[in-house]
Amino acid sequence: MIRRKGIILAGGSGTRLYPITIGLSKQLLPIYNKPMIYYPLSVLMLAGIREIAIITTPADQEQFRRTLGDGAQWGLHLTYIVQASPDGLAQAYVLSEVFLSGASSAMVLGDNLFFGHGLPELMADADDQDGGGTVFGYHVADPQRYGVVAFGPEGKVSAILEKPAVPPSSYAVTGLYFLDGTAPERAKAVAPSERGEFEITDLLESYLAEDLLRVKIMGRGYAWLDTGTHASLLDAGNFVRTLEDRQGLQTGSPDEVAWRQGWITGDQLIERARLFGKNAYGSYLTSLVSEVPYSVMKSES
Ligand code: DAU
Repeated sequence: MIRRKGIILAGGSGTRLYPITIGLSKQLLPIYNKPMIYYPLSVLMLAGIREIAIITTPADQEQFRRTLGDGAQWGLHLTYIVQASPDGLAQAYVLSEVFLSGASSAMVLGDNLFFGHGLPELMADADDQDGGGTVFGYHVADPQRYGVVAFGPEGKVSAILEKPAVPPSSYAVTGLYFLDGTAPERAKAVAPSERGEFEITDLLESYLAEDLLRVKIMGRGYAWLDTGTHASLLDAGNFVRTLEDRQGLQTGSPDEVAWRQGWITGDQLIERARLFGKNAYGSYLTSLVSEVPYSVMKSES
């Protein structure tokens, strides 16, 4: 079987963050000390995925290439795909068809931040499933802003609804989707919604209709952060700062994850750290190599 590949959907118009995003892609904005896309990229890396497509607007692709390169510095292989206009999340699978060439995938939205103990295990479990798809339900205060899970008798998932005026539950579907190799075919069959988008929820419904969709609950021990408004963007940055200051560990660092995964050596990590001079990110990377043996850290993380 071909190894699962990754997709980061990082296009869109970002109008909700205007005027900041008039000249800049949303997913490159800073979340405290890193570009936003570092966080979802690290998530895919924690899932063990090394072959990843980055989908951007035509205008922004160059900046993403400058920020992330070809991925070799992290032991990755990055491919860049353009989405001509923001016609919906499901379109990402149509655009990725050649890249995936039949492989299953994990797609993460470029503006979604995840943090929590056991995240790699949660994703490993989703990765292990043969066929069908896995998505994650997360309890939120404002479900009407998201795709929402409807539960039928005995807690079985009965529907996934996009931004319902009256949410059937408080469980939003997060922007992390593990789907099998049939996703591009299924995505092609999705019709535009009333708001004119190829909705991810319609693609998920096609799996659900065949009883091929698992909805795993991502419990309250996880943080799933939103960056959709000016306030939530700042909140996300403050969250990362609070956590990193307290722990003396960073979150969302592809450099660290690549090293912990054994995809780059300690020497390569130090080489990377040099790029950042003496700033806190560079010093942090340098400190990792000498701090605690990798195997010990791994069993505690
Ligand atoms: O964050 C999770 C939610 O993401 C899900 O619960 C919803 O089911 C899903 O539709 C989506 O809702 P949003 O309202 O957050 O979608 P938004 O249009 O903001 O797009 C999410 C990200 O994807 C955003 O960073 C922009 C990017 N995007 C969006 C569209 C529509 C693209 O790259 N291309 C697109 O065509």
